[in-house]
Amino acid sequence: MLNKQDNELMCRTGAGTPLGDAMRRFWLPVIQSADMPSANGDPKTVELLGERFVVWRDEQGRPGLFAEGCLHRTASMQLARAEGDGLRCIYHGWKFAVDGTVLETPNVEDPRFKERIKGRTYPVKEAGGIVWAYLGPQNEAPPLPQWAFMDLPDAHRINALAVVNANFVQVIEGLVDSSHLTVLHSSALARTNDSGLDYAKKTSHMQFDSAPRIEADETDFGFHYVAIRQTGGKRIARVTSFIAPCFVANANGDIWLAIVPVNDERCNLYHVWWDAEKRVGEEPLRSEQLLFVGLDEPTLRKYGMTPDTCDSPAAMSLANGFGQDRVQQRAGHFTGFDSITQEDAACSVSSGTIRDRSLEMLCPADIAISRLHRSLLSCARAVRDQRELPALRADAGRAIGISAEIGPDDDWRGLVPHHRIVSAAGSRTERSQ
Ligand code: FES
Ligand SMILES: [Fe+2]
Repeated sequence: MLNKQDNELMCRTGAGTPLGDAMRRFWLPVIQSADMPSANGDPKTVELLGERFVVWRDEQGRPGLFAEGCLHRTASMQLARAEGDGLRCIYHGWKFAVDGTVLETPNVEDPRFKERIKGRTYPVKEAGGIVWAYLGPQNEAPPLPQWAFMDLPDAHRINALAVVNANFVQVIEGLVDSSHLTVLHSSALARTNDSGLDYAKKTSHMQFDSAPRIEADETDFGFHYVAIRQTGGKRIARVTSFIAPCFVANANGDIWLAIVPVNDERCNLYHVWWDAEKRVGEEPLRSEQLLFVGLDEPTLRKYGMTPDTCDSPAAMSLANGFGQDRVQQRAGHFTGFDSITQEDAACSVSSGTIRDRSLEMLCPADIAISRLHRSLLSCARAVRDQRELPALRADAGRAIGISAEIGPDDDWRGLVPHHRIVSAAGSRTERSQ
């Protein structure tokens, strides 16, 4: 349970809010590479942390992120002309390169005027099928974490995006809440028995033991949490990493997620699957995987979970019953939703766009949820109180998720290299290799 004040502190990410300012200190996904305009294509508006920006690629393919409003008198850069080496605002013709260099200011007589000003652009990098942006104070950008999937060729990676019309925290909560899988996703998990997908093999055991033992440890990057299930005489530990401010390394070991606020009532849920050996990014593996979890384009559109359908009548709402199929449910399906992605989204969206956590009654299965709240609140308070953000210094790219059988006396922490517990006093202890 959280009081309303802390709930606000944890969920609001607009400019000037403590958590919003904290998030702006990290590199954040702004759009998938596949959704970017092509080289010298038309600019496109995106929303991030409640602010609007325009993304564009110049003729050399370099990505750029512009504040939506033109530097001169704030006409939208979405209207701008793509002119190869820069975007030209159609109002008075000021032209900007992707790095913010002002190339022309035709309504200013002084030819040197443009040398004294800089366009409103932000640092961007492109890696792992994602365009990343840094929106924080100038010259204070941390290094971009080198996640495992960034080193692989495109064919070894699947990128997918789902738009969820709920505050980003409740979507992360769903990703650090192992006990719901056995219940909410029971019909989907039953399908893993007949699927040849690696994903199915890695998740199938979660059909059993709906009361896994949950433990969580704070780390320098966020926290680790484990769900230990007893199934078929085995003890299976699933360790998930939450990496501040909005990343999750799933216990399957090959799924990474970013949950990025579009605004306080909507978020972009980025998924990356990867496999160093298999070409999972190619057909038919790619489509099979996406269809299995409900991240294929037709299913996402059916529920209004794409950028162009999230404001349409298809979007999950009380009015359309969140898209639930009661006929299918009465016929035996546990929930009446197409797949895992829709089941999770329905539970997130149905709580209201910002869940009122003063109404919750948490139980031992929710230890990781409480840890998430503490982690986000500590980020918000650190910035509010002008203290350092420890997660900024963490080597986040090394945080992994992992799932393995462990013996009755084994400590799950041994599964996670570089596991470090951060004590209340802030000192760290190395727990394993
Ligand atoms: S508003 Fe863009 S050039 Fe004047
Ligand atoms: Fe789920």
